[in-house]
Amino acid sequence: MTVCEAPGKVYLFGEHAVVYGEPAVPAAIERRATVTAEPRSDDHVRVEAEDLSLDGFTVEYTGGTGDRPDVDVPTPLVEAAMGYVDAAVEQARDAADAPDAGFDITVESDIPLGAGLGSSAAVVVAGIDAATRALGEPLDRRELADRAYRAEYEVQDGQASRADTFCSTMGGAVRVEGDDCERIEAPNLPFVVGFDGGAGDTGELVAGVGELREEYEFAADTVESIGDLVRTGEALLEDAVPAGDAAAGAEPSPELLAELGELMDFNHGLLAALGVSARSLDAMVWAARDAGAHGAKLTGAGGGGCIVALDASDATETALSFTQGCEEAFRAELATEGVRVVE
Ligand code: MEV
Repeated sequence: MTVCEAPGKVYLFGEHAVVYGEPAVPAAIERRATVTAEPRSDDHVRVEAEDLSLDGFTVEYTGGTGDRPDVDVPTPLVEAAMGYVDAAVEQARDAADAPDAGFDITVESDIPLGAGLGSSAAVVVAGIDAATRALGEPLDRRELADRAYRAEYEVQDGQASRADTFCSTMGGAVRVEGDDCERIEAPNLPFVVGFDGGAGDTGELVAGVGELREEYEFAADTVESIGDLVRTGEALLEDAVPAGDAAAGAEPSPELLAELGELMDFNHGLLAALGVSARSLDAMVWAARDAGAHGAKLTGAGGGGCIVALDASDATETALSFTQGCEEAFRAELATEGVRVVE
């Protein structure tokens, strides 16, 4: 039996602009999906998921086709989760050259599902890692990240970016520009996440920004401005923790927190100008700022879902939990370690 767990992520800066070739900086958070893989003597795949839906589910099917399993599952969200597990199994079989390998798989997750926090990427990364290790064919991290990206790409009909899967595999803060992804050093950033219980439609929101950008020069300029602020944020992180410095994981200085927070506020304003914020997200952003957070912004596609604030104090989490429209608020440290083996 092999157990692997992989983190979710927030965007420190740069979502949407990254679609137009600007850099973005996602950061892994200490909220994880855990996948257990136990090889079977037949080619069946049995999946048990505890926390992916309120009720949980268990299904068993004959794998090997690469298709989404044709089984009855309780909700569309669970059906989507099933697709990710199946794609992970297919990648593991392919990587280990074991097309008929069967598994008993258990999935648990404390990352809110469908909230833009990279829950599907974490399931895919932990799933491929656990399944390949269980077959005695562990992958190096680059290949794991690449295969996880391909699995997401397949399930999301070509709409996946490399950001989520790379960040979940490597951990820490990550720089993404086009297909280039690299880990960047960052101190231990204290995040607070607020979740409104919903989610925007990523495809529609991305298309909306595209239309705005075609129609108005200001929107194209706004996308470029987001790129500029991402580069400024990266430089701040680099100055705080020079590459290879043992200070990675150290506590950030108050000056750094203030400067990063200010950039997050700018980033939120620019995203709002592009039409991707929402009343609930704005309310949570302002509640976090009023509670003393260094800065706050929406994270991910927007339209609903999550905000991320930079703050170590409990005041932000408490203020968010009393904010109208906020369903869940939690502290989440930067996950310096990406996917890891638990057992
Ligand atoms: C969605 O999580 C992030 C976006 O930038 C889309 C993408 O990068 O694929 C809005």
